[in-house]
Amino acid sequence: MATIDDLLRGIREAGEAPFRSAIAIPNRAYNSQDLFDLEAEHLFRRGWTMIARVEQAPTPNSYHSVDLLGELLVMTRDKEGVLHVFSRVCPHRGAELLQGSGKTRAVVCPYHAWTFDLAGQCRGAPLMDDLDGFDRQAHGLRPIRHEVWNGFVFVNLDGAAPPLTARLKPLDEALADCELSNLVVVKTLDWGEVPYDWKVIAENSMECYHHHGVHIRSIGKLFPANRSWTVDDTADYLLTYSEPDPDEFDRVDGVQTVVDAARIVTVFPYGHFTARPTGGTFLQVLPVAAGRSRVFSHMMLTKAAAQAPGLEELIASRLVRTRQILGEDWAICEKVQAGALTTQTHAGRLSSFEHPLWLFYRYYARALPTGAAPLALD
Ligand code: FES
Ligand SMILES: [Fe+2]
Repeated sequence: MATIDDLLRGIREAGEAPFRSAIAIPNRAYNSQDLFDLEAEHLFRRGWTMIARVEQAPTPNSYHSVDLLGELLVMTRDKEGVLHVFSRVCPHRGAELLQGSGKTRAVVCPYHAWTFDLAGQCRGAPLMDDLDGFDRQAHGLRPIRHEVWNGFVFVNLDGAAPPLTARLKPLDEALADCELSNLVVVKTLDWGEVPYDWKVIAENSMECYHHHGVHIRSIGKLFPANRSWTVDDTADYLLTYSEPDPDEFDRVDGVQTVVDAARIVTVFPYGHFTARPTGGTFLQVLPVAAGRSRVFSHMMLTKAAAQAPGLEELIASRLVRTRQILGEDWAICEKVQAGALTTQTHAGRLSSFEHPLWLFYRYYARALPTGAAPLALD
């Protein structure tokens, strides 16, 4: 049985291997709660996690709940339309205030009926007036540090990470034609809590090397690995270009269609989306425990397409594609997770088309306490 020290040693080796000698991390890394606890602390609480799109709280007085590593969060828009992220735990005695998404002018705690507006101010605290020094203004919802980048909402739970959006500036230029701020979520698929580690999903989503295997019946020939490449000038994110083979056609619909090149983006530790000038997919993966993740996929279209006639037909046809591709991905994630339950450990060699994984491991080995040497890039 691999100990946590064995795992950290294997992760360090993967993170320090030269590109032409790149190796995978140990398979037990996808099923170790000790390692997950380190990831929660060092990657997710100290880093920035992509939790939503701004349009999921679309109008004044709307809200959208997200659970992240046991934290109960809510994104709100106050009556002026300003976006906030709060803990949705009552500052009185800690009851969960609300769930899901919706619209309300006031959040009323189900326990003792303290009331809060969507800017987080405490507007009512019944029968507290006889106390010494009680000022309800001092008992608002607890704000969670957040930043918005091109419509994606990120949170930093420990409140101490370096600012994020400045570090994503190079992505703005690379994705300018995708107009990310102009996209809106038009359909969300809730895949529930899935029995795969967040890294199993993350690694699968990063590389195109699996296309000729996992996706051979869908997009494998249209988007082959050898027409993908990854930019490697940053330690903060991955940017992969995936171009269609011009001699292929859309095999899912069975008819020739013009298909744009895709940009596949991961902001470390794991905020992931794909984008094209016509829209994209935000794959929202919230780590729950070792080997367990909460997953949503959000279909995004341009605002113009979202308001054009025929929207429902467009969504329906894209859903066929999404369900097929993600269905193929989940099936292989299940098999990788099954391998992670065994004691077989070996450092598999990575192909050059798994370049994104090599870059991810360089980040991952340095975000965890593995003792990996700093990168010159840092
Ligand atoms: S716990 Fe919310 S009002 Fe008491
Ligand atoms: Fe895939």
